[in-house]
Amino acid sequence: MLKAINIAKSYHDGARNELHVLTGVSLTLDKAETAAIIGSSGSGKTTLLNILGGLDKPTGGQVLLNDQDVHKLSEKQRCTVRNRHFGFIYQFHHLLPEFTALENVAMPLLINGDPVKQTKQRAEKVLEDVGLKQRLHHKPGELSGGERQRAAIARALIHQPDCIFADEPTGNLDRKNAEQAISLITDLNREYHTSLIIVTHDIRIAERMDTIYTLEDGVLNKA
Ligand SMILES: Nc1ncnc2c1ncn2[C@@H]1O[C@H](COP(=O)(O)OP(=O)(O)O)[C@@H](O)[C@H]1O
Ligand SMILES: [Mg+2]
Repeated sequence: MLKAINIAKSYHDGARNELHVLTGVSLTLDKAETAAIIGSSGSGKTTLLNILGGLDKPTGGQVLLNDQDVHKLSEKQRCTVRNRHFGFIYQFHHLLPEFTALENVAMPLLINGDPVKQTKQRAEKVLEDVGLKQRLHHKPGELSGGERQRAAIARALIHQPDCIFADEPTGNLDRKNAEQAISLITDLNREYHTSLIIVTHDIRIAERMDTIYTLEDGVLNKA
Protein backbone atom coordinates (compact mmCIF):
# COMPACT_ATOMS: atom_id res chain seq x y z
CA MET A 1 0.00 0.00 0.00
CA LEU A 2 2.58 2.58 1.17
CA LYS A 3 6.17 1.96 0.20
CA ALA A 4 9.25 4.09 0.80
CA ILE A 5 12.34 3.19 -1.20
CA ASN A 6 15.73 4.50 -0.19
CA ILE A 7 14.53 7.89 1.03
CA ALA A 8 17.24 10.49 1.54
CA LYS A 9 16.92 14.00 2.90
CA SER A 10 19.65 16.57 3.32
CA TYR A 11 19.41 20.15 4.51
CA HIS A 12 21.83 22.87 3.51
CA ASP A 13 23.03 24.90 6.43
CA GLY A 14 24.40 28.14 5.05
CA ALA A 15 26.74 27.92 2.07
CA ARG A 16 28.74 24.77 2.78
CA ASN A 17 27.49 22.46 5.45
CA GLU A 18 25.10 19.76 4.44
CA LEU A 19 23.12 17.92 7.07
CA HIS A 20 22.25 14.38 5.98
CA VAL A 21 19.17 13.64 8.08
CA LEU A 22 17.94 10.57 6.19
CA THR A 23 20.41 8.51 4.18
CA GLY A 24 18.45 5.52 2.90
CA VAL A 25 15.14 4.79 4.53
CA SER A 26 13.00 1.96 3.20
CA LEU A 27 9.67 0.88 4.59
CA THR A 28 6.62 -1.05 3.47
CA LEU A 29 3.27 -0.62 5.14
CA ASP A 30 0.38 -2.90 4.21
CA LYS A 31 -3.29 -1.98 4.39
CA ALA A 32 -4.41 -1.74 8.04
CA GLU A 33 -0.85 -2.34 9.28
CA THR A 34 0.39 -0.29 12.23
CA ALA A 35 3.98 0.78 12.80
CA ALA A 36 5.81 2.79 15.44
CA ILE A 37 8.94 4.84 14.81
CA ILE A 38 11.15 5.59 17.78
CA GLY A 39 14.38 7.54 17.78
CA SER A 40 16.15 10.25 19.69
CA SER A 41 15.26 13.90 19.32
CA GLY A 42 16.67 15.29 16.08
CA SER A 43 17.06 11.86 14.46
CA GLY A 44 14.69 12.83 11.62
CA LYS A 45 11.37 11.28 12.65
CA THR A 46 9.26 14.33 11.78
CA THR A 47 11.21 14.82 8.55
CA LEU A 48 10.49 11.21 7.55
CA LEU A 49 6.81 11.42 8.44
CA ASN A 50 6.41 14.62 6.44
CA ILE A 51 8.09 13.01 3.41
CA LEU A 52 5.93 9.87 3.67
CA GLY A 53 2.82 12.05 4.00
CA GLY A 54 3.70 14.12 0.95
CA LEU A 55 4.21 17.33 2.94
CA ASP A 56 7.95 17.58 2.28
CA LYS A 57 10.10 16.47 -0.65
CA PRO A 58 12.92 13.93 -0.29
CA THR A 59 16.30 14.68 -1.84
CA GLY A 60 16.44 11.06 -3.02
CA GLY A 61 14.29 7.96 -3.21
CA GLN A 62 10.61 7.36 -3.75
CA VAL A 63 7.36 7.21 -1.82
CA LEU A 64 4.80 4.98 -3.53
CA LEU A 65 1.14 5.02 -2.59
CA ASN A 66 -0.53 2.09 -4.33
CA ASP A 67 2.39 2.04 -6.82
CA GLN A 68 2.12 5.76 -7.61
CA ASP A 69 5.11 7.98 -6.83
CA VAL A 70 3.68 10.68 -4.55
CA HIS A 71 6.57 13.08 -5.18
CA LYS A 72 6.27 12.84 -8.97
CA LEU A 73 2.74 14.25 -8.87
CA SER A 74 1.98 17.92 -9.40
CA GLU A 75 1.46 19.98 -6.24
CA LYS A 76 -2.27 19.96 -6.89
CA GLN A 77 -2.43 16.18 -7.36
CA ARG A 78 -0.32 15.67 -4.24
CA CYS A 79 -2.69 17.90 -2.30
CA THR A 80 -5.59 15.73 -3.45
CA VAL A 81 -3.74 12.59 -2.36
CA ARG A 82 -3.16 14.13 1.09
CA ASN A 83 -6.79 15.23 1.45
CA ARG A 84 -8.28 11.95 0.25
CA HIS A 85 -5.87 9.25 1.37
CA PHE A 86 -3.93 10.55 4.37
CA GLY A 87 -4.79 11.76 7.85
CA PHE A 88 -2.46 13.66 10.18
CA ILE A 89 -2.39 13.88 13.97
CA TYR A 90 0.16 16.06 15.76
CA GLN A 91 1.31 16.66 19.31
CA PHE A 92 -0.82 19.79 19.43
CA HIS A 93 -4.39 19.47 18.23
CA HIS A 94 -4.39 22.37 15.68
CA LEU A 95 -8.16 22.73 15.92
CA LEU A 96 -9.53 26.06 14.75
CA PRO A 97 -10.55 27.99 17.89
CA GLU A 98 -13.52 29.81 16.32
CA PHE A 99 -15.28 26.64 15.21
CA THR A 100 -17.13 23.91 17.13
CA ALA A 101 -15.85 20.33 17.39
CA LEU A 102 -18.40 19.33 14.75
CA GLU A 103 -17.30 22.07 12.35
CA ASN A 104 -13.60 21.33 12.91
CA VAL A 105 -14.10 17.64 12.15
CA ALA A 106 -16.31 18.33 9.12
CA MET A 107 -13.86 20.92 7.71
CA PRO A 108 -11.58 18.60 5.66
CA LEU A 109 -14.58 17.20 3.77
CA LEU A 110 -16.25 20.60 3.35
CA ILE A 111 -12.99 21.92 1.88
CA ASN A 112 -13.08 18.97 -0.55
CA GLY A 113 -16.52 20.17 -1.62
CA ASP A 114 -18.50 17.26 -0.16
CA PRO A 115 -22.24 17.81 0.52
CA VAL A 116 -22.84 19.67 3.79
CA LYS A 117 -25.65 17.61 5.30
CA GLN A 118 -23.99 14.25 4.69
CA THR A 119 -20.66 15.58 5.93
CA LYS A 120 -22.19 16.83 9.20
CA GLN A 121 -23.81 13.44 9.78
CA ARG A 122 -20.49 11.75 9.20
CA ALA A 123 -18.70 14.18 11.52
CA GLU A 124 -21.30 13.39 14.22
CA LYS A 125 -20.72 9.67 13.80
CA VAL A 126 -16.92 9.98 14.07
CA LEU A 127 -17.20 12.31 17.08
CA GLU A 128 -19.51 9.74 18.66
CA ASP A 129 -16.86 7.08 17.93
CA VAL A 130 -14.28 9.09 19.88
CA GLY A 131 -16.67 9.63 22.80
CA LEU A 132 -17.55 13.25 22.12
CA LYS A 133 -21.27 12.85 21.38
CA GLN A 134 -22.08 15.33 24.15
CA ARG A 135 -19.49 17.86 22.94
CA LEU A 136 -20.44 18.40 19.29
CA HIS A 137 -21.12 22.11 19.66
CA HIS A 138 -18.28 22.95 22.03
CA LYS A 139 -15.39 25.04 20.78
CA PRO A 140 -11.81 23.83 21.44
CA GLY A 141 -11.48 26.28 24.37
CA GLU A 142 -14.45 24.58 26.03
CA LEU A 143 -12.92 21.10 25.78
CA SER A 144 -10.33 19.40 27.99
CA GLY A 145 -6.87 18.55 26.57
CA GLY A 146 -7.85 14.91 26.11
CA GLU A 147 -11.13 15.87 24.45
CA ARG A 148 -9.36 18.25 22.07
CA GLN A 149 -6.95 15.51 21.01
CA ARG A 150 -9.88 13.12 20.49
CA ALA A 151 -11.52 15.73 18.26
CA ALA A 152 -8.24 15.95 16.31
CA ILE A 153 -8.29 12.15 15.94
CA ALA A 154 -11.86 12.35 14.63
CA ARG A 155 -10.79 15.03 12.15
CA ALA A 156 -7.92 12.83 10.89
CA LEU A 157 -10.31 9.91 10.36
CA ILE A 158 -13.45 11.49 8.94
CA HIS A 159 -12.50 10.85 5.31
CA GLN A 160 -11.51 7.24 6.09
CA PRO A 161 -7.93 7.69 4.92
CA ASP A 162 -5.70 4.82 3.81
CA CYS A 163 -3.01 5.90 6.22
CA ILE A 164 -2.74 8.01 9.37
CA PHE A 165 0.52 9.75 10.22
CA ALA A 166 0.76 10.57 13.92
CA ASP A 167 3.72 12.62 15.15
CA GLU A 168 4.03 12.22 18.92
CA PRO A 169 0.23 12.45 19.25
CA THR A 170 0.28 11.85 23.00
CA GLY A 171 3.30 14.05 23.77
CA ASN A 172 1.08 16.68 25.33
CA LEU A 173 -1.25 14.37 27.29
CA ASP A 174 -1.04 12.81 30.75
CA ARG A 175 -0.79 9.01 30.97
CA LYS A 176 -4.52 8.36 31.29
CA ASN A 177 -5.46 10.54 28.33
CA ALA A 178 -2.51 9.20 26.32
CA GLU A 179 -3.67 5.60 26.87
CA GLN A 180 -7.21 6.59 25.91
CA ALA A 181 -6.10 8.36 22.76
CA ILE A 182 -3.96 5.41 21.63
CA SER A 183 -6.72 2.88 22.33
CA LEU A 184 -9.01 5.04 20.25
CA ILE A 185 -6.57 5.37 17.38
CA THR A 186 -5.91 1.62 17.28
CA ASP A 187 -9.62 0.69 17.65
CA LEU A 188 -10.65 3.07 14.88
CA ASN A 189 -7.73 1.90 12.79
CA ARG A 190 -9.21 -1.61 13.00
CA GLU A 191 -12.77 -0.43 12.34
CA TYR A 192 -11.80 1.63 9.29
CA HIS A 193 -8.91 -0.62 8.08
CA THR A 194 -6.60 2.38 8.20
CA SER A 195 -2.83 1.98 8.27
CA LEU A 196 -1.00 3.90 10.94
CA ILE A 197 2.52 5.21 11.41
CA ILE A 198 3.08 6.67 14.82
CA VAL A 199 6.16 8.49 16.06
CA THR A 200 6.46 8.12 19.80
CA HIS A 201 8.91 8.23 22.69
CA ASP A 202 6.71 5.94 24.70
CA ILE A 203 7.81 2.30 24.41
CA ARG A 204 4.48 1.11 25.86
CA ILE A 205 2.69 2.80 22.98
CA ALA A 206 5.20 1.51 20.42
CA GLU A 207 4.64 -2.06 21.67
CA ARG A 208 0.98 -1.85 20.73
CA MET A 209 1.86 -1.52 17.03
CA ASP A 210 2.45 -4.42 14.61
CA THR A 211 6.00 -3.33 13.86
CA ILE A 212 8.49 -1.14 15.74
CA TYR A 213 11.21 0.69 13.85
CA THR A 214 14.11 2.70 15.20
CA LEU A 215 15.48 5.65 13.28
CA GLU A 216 19.18 6.11 13.90
CA ASP A 217 22.01 7.62 11.83
CA GLY A 218 19.66 8.31 8.93
CA VAL A 219 18.34 4.77 8.53
CA LEU A 220 15.33 2.84 9.74
CA ASN A 221 15.70 -0.61 11.29
CA LYS A 222 13.20 -3.04 12.74
CA ALA A 223 13.60 -3.03 16.51
N1 LIG B 1 13.71 22.89 7.48
C1 LIG B 1 14.88 22.50 8.02
N2 LIG B 1 16.04 23.09 7.69
C2 LIG B 1 17.21 22.68 8.20
N3 LIG B 1 17.33 21.67 9.09
C3 LIG B 1 16.20 21.05 9.48
C4 LIG B 1 14.92 21.42 8.98
N4 LIG B 1 13.99 20.61 9.53
C5 LIG B 1 14.66 19.78 10.35
N5 LIG B 1 15.99 20.03 10.33
C6 LIG B 1 17.03 19.29 11.08
O1 LIG B 1 16.92 17.93 10.75
C7 LIG B 1 17.13 17.12 11.89
C8 LIG B 1 15.95 16.21 12.12
O2 LIG B 1 14.83 16.99 12.53
P1 LIG B 1 13.41 16.32 12.87
O3 LIG B 1 12.97 15.53 11.71
O4 LIG B 1 12.50 17.39 13.34
O5 LIG B 1 13.80 15.33 14.06
P2 LIG B 1 12.89 14.59 15.15
O6 LIG B 1 11.46 14.73 14.73
O7 LIG B 1 13.37 13.17 15.14
O8 LIG B 1 13.17 15.24 16.46
C9 LIG B 1 17.42 18.06 13.04
O9 LIG B 1 18.82 18.15 13.19
C10 LIG B 1 16.84 19.38 12.57
O10 LIG B 1 17.52 20.44 13.12
MG1 LIG C 1 9.77 15.51 15.67
